[in-house]
Amino acid sequence: MTLTFLLRVGAIVLALLGNSLGAPRSFSVDYKNDCFRKDGEEFRYISGSIHYNRIPRVYWKDRLLKMYMAGLNTIQTYIPWNFHEPSPNQYNFNGDRDVQHFLQLAQDIGLLVILRPGPYICAEWDMGGLPAWLLKKRSIVLRSSDPDYIAAVDKWMGKLLPMMKPLLYQNGGPIISVQVENEYGSYFACDYNYMSHLSKLFQGHLGDEAVLFTTDGAGLSYLKCGSIQGLYATVDFGPGSNISAAFNAQRHAEPHGPLVNSEFYAGWLDHWGSRHATVSTAIVAKALNEILALGANVNLYMFIGGTNLVPMAQAGDLTEKYFAIREVIKRYRKIPEGPIPPSTPKYAYGVVKMAKVQTVLSALEKLSFSGPVKSIYPLSFIEINQVFGFVLYSTKLPVNCSTPTPLSSPLNGVHDRAYVSVDGVPMGILERSKVLTINITGSSGSRVDLLVENMGRLNYGGGINDFKGLVSNLTLGEDVLSGWTMYSLNIDEAVSQGLIQKTQAPGSSHPASSPAGLSLPTFYSGSFRIPDGIPDLPQDTYVQFPGWRKGQVWINGFNLGRYWPVRGPQVTLFVPANVLSTAAPNNVTLLELEGSPCTTGPCVVEFTETPILNTTVSTGPCPRLFLRGG
Ligand SMILES: *[C@@H]1O[C@H](CO)[C@@H](O)[C@H](O)[C@H]1NC(C)=O
Ligand SMILES: *[C@@H]1O[C@H](CO)[C@@H](O)[C@H](O)[C@H]1NC(C)=O
Ligand SMILES: *[C@@H]1O[C@H](CO)[C@@H](O)[C@H](O)[C@H]1NC(C)=O
Ligand SMILES: *[C@@H]1O[C@H](CO)[C@@H](O)[C@H](O)[C@H]1NC(C)=O
Ligand SMILES: *[C@@H]1O[C@H](CO)[C@@H](O)[C@H](O)[C@H]1NC(C)=O
Ligand SMILES: *[C@@H]1O[C@H](CO)[C@@H](O)[C@H](O)[C@H]1NC(C)=O
Repeated sequence: MTLTFLLRVGAIVLALLGNSLGAPRSFSVDYKNDCFRKDGEEFRYISGSIHYNRIPRVYWKDRLLKMYMAGLNTIQTYIPWNFHEPSPNQYNFNGDRDVQHFLQLAQDIGLLVILRPGPYICAEWDMGGLPAWLLKKRSIVLRSSDPDYIAAVDKWMGKLLPMMKPLLYQNGGPIISVQVENEYGSYFACDYNYMSHLSKLFQGHLGDEAVLFTTDGAGLSYLKCGSIQGLYATVDFGPGSNISAAFNAQRHAEPHGPLVNSEFYAGWLDHWGSRHATVSTAIVAKALNEILALGANVNLYMFIGGTNLVPMAQAGDLTEKYFAIREVIKRYRKIPEGPIPPSTPKYAYGVVKMAKVQTVLSALEKLSFSGPVKSIYPLSFIEINQVFGFVLYSTKLPVNCSTPTPLSSPLNGVHDRAYVSVDGVPMGILERSKVLTINITGSSGSRVDLLVENMGRLNYGGGINDFKGLVSNLTLGEDVLSGWTMYSLNIDEAVSQGLIQKTQAPGSSHPASSPAGLSLPTFYSGSFRIPDGIPDLPQDTYVQFPGWRKGQVWINGFNLGRYWPVRGPQVTLFVPANVLSTAAPNNVTLLELEGSPCTTGPCVVEFTETPILNTTVSTGPCPRLFLRGG
């Protein structure tokens, strides 16, 4: 094959130069011996997935070291485009986004890297890593030869890949191989021109020596559109699969070369309202053993996930699965000696009193930096330049609704959840695919407000053009509502600037009683000090929300995430020590969207030592979407 030939030529040139520079570095696919070849030696990787974008930078080294000590010789990571180019031509590679530093740390620790730069990555990440601003062209066909999509991809890869080139193995760095696209064979477009364009683009930036590959589900139907000549085809499958059948599928696309499972599912993701997913340690260990016994290369997906427990927990804790996997790996390669860094200590800071601050409606001016936008019919988030979070949609009742009148989204266009009030009285919640109609009452001219929440864009499948906000018209009875005023809210900014403060605004001090048992979306705050006299504080902790229903939590202005204990299964959020301060009181801000416990019971959040991830309270009325792993 051309690739191997070129690699050999490259290796000879390097060998000639190599005498004074030390051993030449090369990495290639050996089609003759069905293996990878590194520096001329047969090589097999045992890898684990870790996403730097899900871990605070201060913990990168700890997690990588634990992966190394588990016996892995390689890690695999994606690069989410939308994490680094949040708006067109605005690049961010600093702090938690410093991917070059992350890769350098991996190399310093002794790990090789399999890089998966997309452009589409799936990854259980917003829009599969694609930036939402691509949707400014309404009709764009993502992951295809659509010229607007290609132009954006070319520009992004023109920025990213030259940064990665010096980090390729043959250039002295840790990156042994680079994946092009991701599970493209599962996507409806099946556009060979697109894959062929990407293949040339990657080769152009990284050089002919770079080992480029694709990953697809282990079935011929996936490999049909996902694999393309010139890119080494690999497969992904979990411990429940028939391993020989899965590798037979890869052999169909690649009759020769190393066997590779690019995503071996050591755990699984959770959805709100579904049972907590678990994958038994015994089954993972057994299947891993079988894969390694075949001489195959494998990447455990994930090794450390986000919230979900895989071999390593979110807080970097060593689990039973971690040690079981280490025991399996030990049978196949010499694993490093020396102590494994311990799980980080946790501290229970205890109960923190919360107090009501103000409602979203009373804080509108402070939350909407750009001021309102008016339109006859509703505009989507992206049309008013909002990417994440919340937009407030407001209009007036055109008629008297003295009896309950249906407010509907007949085309299922509330993306994803709308907290509805009339003249400051909560009326109910519309929810995408679940609740398309509620009844409201009010008189002609009353103000109707819908606080619309983006709950994350679909990351997989034909629906990734996932517009947010009110993406189709609402009806009141038979009439289409019109005359909208929309407030784009930058709550992160307002919280971190300390703008959310108690006001004397009318209506904000006494909760209006609601027919639905709901309260208006409202901010609460509280603070706590790190105790004196205890060594090594602050330490990591978990925050829990007794009696709260659904909302968002910030600590010292850092947006920690979403809580939804009434739906589950996740009840606690991980609080890494680096967001806490010993110098000043730590400020906790909640935006509670449905109703607080504060009128009926203790108005507190609690910091505890242990996570709770497996309490499914409500499954909701809708069948869950099936998402593929990677
Ligand atoms: C697994 O797949 C192989 C090859 O396709 C087949 O021969 C075998 O019967 C399968 N095993 C099971 C348990 O289904
Ligand atoms: C709406 O109802 C109020 C009384 O509740 C009445 O005064 C008003 O005329 C009605 N308006 C319309 C448009 O029917
Ligand atoms: C709305 O109110 C009508 C009349 O009271 C009732 O029949 C209907 O079930 C209600 N719809 C919803 C969605 O609550
Ligand atoms: C709302 O309805 C109007 C009139 O039928 C239509 O022109 C407009 O495109 C619709 N807007 C949305 C967001 O569906
Ligand atoms: C918490 O808020 C108070 C009052 O605004 C401020 O003085 C303090 O510095 C904040 N704490 C931290 C850790 O930022
Ligand atoms: C949840 O997880 C804990 C800790 O692993 C376990 O003790 C408990 O039995 C689990 N509960 C459910 C409902 O699965």
